[in-house]
Amino acid sequence: MSGSRLETEEAAREYLEFDPAKIERREVYRLLTGSVVPRPIGWASTISKEGVTNLAPFSFFTVVCVAPPMISLTIARRPDGSKKHTLVNAEETGEFCFNAVTEDTWERMVDSANGCPDGVSEFGVTGLTPIPSVKVKAPRVKEAPIHFECKTHQVIYLGPNKHPLLIGEVVYFHVDPAVMTGKYIDMKKLHPVGRLNGFLQCTLGKFLEREFKDGMAR
Ligand SMILES: Cc1cc2nc3c(=O)[nH]c(=O)nc-3n(C[C@H](O)[C@H](O)[C@H](O)COP(=O)(O)O)c2cc1C
Repeated sequence: MSGSRLETEEAAREYLEFDPAKIERREVYRLLTGSVVPRPIGWASTISKEGVTNLAPFSFFTVVCVAPPMISLTIARRPDGSKKHTLVNAEETGEFCFNAVTEDTWERMVDSANGCPDGVSEFGVTGLTPIPSVKVKAPRVKEAPIHFECKTHQVIYLGPNKHPLLIGEVVYFHVDPAVMTGKYIDMKKLHPVGRLNGFLQCTLGKFLEREFKDGMAR
């Protein structure tokens, strides 16, 4: 019976209901970020046209396309409406890098979110090491085991507030073989870190694994 028809109103669980058109923006944010969890962290490294390196994390981040490979970052405006350095650099230079955040680097990742004045680099402030890329001028984070070199594909300005969504095409991958088993990036070796609600981060402590009929779920 269950699942074959809509439950009657009496049997349904009681939910709190929210209409985004009628609640505070902060409350909408809390509903979104408390529910869409965990979120991966796109740790973006860039260089300005003046040559200043920049590093910042973004958890409104995901992979959006495989052929060609593309990723996206949602980069909110600052309270005064200005653009964050990452977006300015990705637009002006047409390039950025993604760096994987792991247990080793998560605290410095959080520190890199504090923002620096123009001309000052989060690399210097956090002590992380910028290393050269192959196809882009944006640096990579030496302490991260995975880097994607990206060319800015498009910046879409969403809705009435023109909220920026940066889409990048990955033009080069770097993966430390220490985090691989065979052809696969091995979660038990990578120790990835994601974002939960607020400033809570998570890593993989317990692995839930099962096999599909035709082999492992890879
Ligand atoms: C874990 C984490 C995730 C974040 N995710 C986002 C995000 O998705 N979008 C955003 O605009 N800011 C996000 N931030 C805040 C930015 O990292 C922060 O505003 C940073 O100073 C921007 O730096 P920039 O001006 O150098 O680009 C996040 C911060 C942390 C710690």
